[in-house]
Amino acid sequence: MSETSDSDGTSLTEAERALVDAAWTARDGARCEYSGFAVGAALETTAGVVHTGANVENASYNLGLCAERVGMYHALTHGAEAFRTVVIATDTADPTYPCGACRQALWEFAPDAVLWLSVARGRIALRTTVAATLPAGFDKRALQR
Ligand code: THU
Repeated sequence: MSETSDSDGTSLTEAERALVDAAWTARDGARCEYSGFAVGAALETTAGVVHTGANVENASYNLGLCAERVGMYHALTHGAEAFRTVVIATDTADPTYPCGACRQALWEFAPDAVLWLSVARGRIALRTTVAATLPAGFDKRALQR
């Protein structure tokens, strides 16, 4: 997996900084009363529009939805076509990769996006790509018989 780390975030442009900040602001809206693990996501479309989401949990645990899918599905139902960058924000020592289900969802709708994992407000701990997180992903090509 190709990854680069950025220890202080000082190399970010203003737009990149705003995108990371949007993921952190989104995280403040997490509804994670069962796990206490708040996650924020910000997705920038290829048209330059930013959409965000946070995880939402439920007393019936398996109904919860991750921040990435909340944000991406909002985007897709509000005109987004393709994504350039996806930022995931968690207040953790190590970067948080998307879960397997989110990797598959991102593979479907954001296969060409770069993925930034942020662990402290404004800091990007790890940069990778959606494609690198899901080798041999399943997609519509597999449905051709
Ligand atoms: N979660 C996310 O929102 N995104 C991830 O990439 C990993 C996990 C959420 C799901 C659940 O609400 C909480 O984190 C604990 O698993």
